[in-house]
Amino acid sequence: MLNALFDKGKKFIVQCYTEKNKAEMISSRLTEIEKEINETGSYTHSMMELEHGAKMAWRNSNKCIGRLFWDTLTVRDKRHLTEAQEIIESLEQHIVEATNKGKIKPMITVFAPQQKGTDQVRIWNHQLVRYAGYETELGIIGDPMSVRFTEVCEELGWEGENGHFDILPLVLQLKDSEPILRDIPKKIIMEVDLEHPENDQFKDLQLKWYALPAISDMSLEIGGIVYSAAPFNGWYMGTEIGARNLADQDRYNMLPKVASIFDLDISRHSFLWKDRALVELNRAVLYSYQKARVSIVDHHTAAEQFKRFERNEKELEREVTGNWSWLIPPISPAATHIFHHNYNDELIMPNFFYQKPPYE
Ligand code: ARG
Repeated sequence: MLNALFDKGKKFIVQCYTEKNKAEMISSRLTEIEKEINETGSYTHSMMELEHGAKMAWRNSNKCIGRLFWDTLTVRDKRHLTEAQEIIESLEQHIVEATNKGKIKPMITVFAPQQKGTDQVRIWNHQLVRYAGYETELGIIGDPMSVRFTEVCEELGWEGENGHFDILPLVLQLKDSEPILRDIPKKIIMEVDLEHPENDQFKDLQLKWYALPAISDMSLEIGGIVYSAAPFNGWYMGTEIGARNLADQDRYNMLPKVASIFDLDISRHSFLWKDRALVELNRAVLYSYQKARVSIVDHHTAAEQFKRFERNEKELEREVTGNWSWLIPPISPAATHIFHHNYNDELIMPNFFYQKPPYE
C-alpha cells in the first residue's frame, strides 16, 4: 500500500520536476516524501507540485478539445479548509473569480484529499452551476439530466420553483457527516439569454444557458493522492450547449421548436430540418454569448487550437493521447482535422476521474 503510494508519487515527482527544470531537486524531495509516507501514511504536495500536477491532469484529459490552454490554469489551493461554511464560500468565490465578468478564466479549486481512501470533502453536484429537472404529469420540466439530483436536493429540504432553468443549490459533504445544502446567490451566476442574429422570433423560445461550465463531481489524482473535491472549469464550446444540452432528445429537445420558428418543413427526414435547426440554434448560442461578452469558442476554432496543442506537444516530444469520439464536435465533425486522425486513448497520469455518486 505505502510502497504503491511512494511509487506513484515518485513517478509524478520525476516528471513534474523535470518539466519544471528542477531535476536537481528530485532526490531530496523523494527522500522527504518517503519519510512523510512512513510517518503518516501519506504525503503533502507543495504548491508547485499541486499547480503543475493539476495542469498535467488537464493536459492528459483525453476527452477535452480545449487542452491548448492547459498551462494557463489558475489553481486555488484550499486544502486547509475544514468548515462547511468556508468551503461553500470558497466555491462561491470560485464562481465569481472564474466567471470574471464574462472573461472566463480556466480555474480549479483543490480541497483536502482523501485520507486512507476516505473522502474528506465531496461535492454532490455534477457542476457548480446546473439547472434542476422535475418529473411532472406533463413530462419533465427543466433539465432531464438533473432529475435524480434534484430529487436528492428535495429530500434534503430544498424547494425548487418548477421552472425550466432553476439553479440547483450546492450540496457539500464533509467526511461521513450529513450533506449540507446551500442556495448560490443569484447575483454571482452569469447567464446568457439566447437570441438569433437574424430571426427575431428566436427569443420567444425564452432559452438561456449559464456562462460557467464547472465540473465538480470528478476526482483529481496526482502522484497517488486523490483529491475527491477539485471543481474545475474552462469556457464553453458552443456545440456543448447548442448541439447537446438544448438539442438532445433526452435533454431540452428544442429542435422541433427551433424548426417551427424558422418555418422548416418537418414532414420528412430528407428535408434535413434537424440539421438546419441545429445550425441556427448553434448560431444563436455563439451570437448571444459574444453579444453578452461571455467567453465561448466555436468548434472550428477549438479544433484549430487543438491542432496547435498537438504540434506543441510533438515539439516537446510528448505524445498526445485522446478519445476520438469525444474530441470530434457533434456538428460538422468531418470539417475538422480531428475527424480524419486516429488518437490513442491511453490513460496517462495525473488525470481526472469519474466518481460513484455519493447518493444512490
Ligand atoms: N459538456 C458540459 C456541459 O455542457 C460541460 C463540460 C466541460 N466543458 C467545458 N467547456 N469545459 O455543461
